[in-house]
Amino acid sequence: MPSVICFDVLTLFPSIFEGFLSESVLKGALAAQKIEVRLHNMRDWADDKHATMDDRPFGGGPGMLLKVDRVVPCVEEIQHQQQPGRLLMFTPQGRCFNQRFAEELATEQRIVMLCGRYEGFDERVAEILKPEEVSIGDYILNGGEVAAMVVIETVMRLIRGVLGDEDSNRFDSFSTGNRILDCAHYTRPREYRGFSVPEILLSGNHAEIAQWRNNNSLQRTKEKRPDLLVTASGNSSPKN
Ligand code: ADE
Repeated sequence: MPSVICFDVLTLFPSIFEGFLSESVLKGALAAQKIEVRLHNMRDWADDKHATMDDRPFGGGPGMLLKVDRVVPCVEEIQHQQQPGRLLMFTPQGRCFNQRFAEELATEQRIVMLCGRYEGFDERVAEILKPEEVSIGDYILNGGEVAAMVVIETVMRLIRGVLGDEDSNRFDSFSTGNRILDCAHYTRPREYRGFSVPEILLSGNHAEIAQWRNNNSLQRTKEKRPDLLVTASGNSSPKN
């Protein structure tokens, strides 16, 4: 796994990322140079007076499409600025993003992400650039920016040294070898409105606490996400 991952984000709205990148773990990862995020405004590749990036679809229909003659030169130029990266294009038709996909991306040195807007891209963008089309779920967003943030945040957590505790992502739910939900956690006060912390967690008996946590994880998975247990026992193996 590389020690630094560079994310190049191609968007019409780079300012959407400002708050996201300037707080908490991401801010720290940027400052520690564990990740690099380069924002590119695709509008800079529009050479006409109005910086037009979109146009009406041939054949009619609602909405506007991102123009192939703007997007393709932009991606090509950015890819050639350094060693070309793994190219992702966000669309609801893409491969569904999940923890396993994030683990795969965390082995890359450079990830270039193309964020759509409006009704999407002229189809020739995909035909020419052959990006990996990625969706973050079966719902429609206004564009790919939120999807890019999801990918950046999920992948950066997997880089060694980004999270305070070296181990703290290894047991995240959904990571390879751990397709089970996290157990319940409690902090002070010990009792609130008649709801108490389970006695065992106050016992100091680490073996029993570990046992309780395992059982609690399993119980919660059975209740909330039984589909994960089917997968864990090998009855079905999703390709995503
Ligand atoms: N653009 C619009 N909807 C999207 C989704 N669900 N995932 C990725 N990109 C999108």
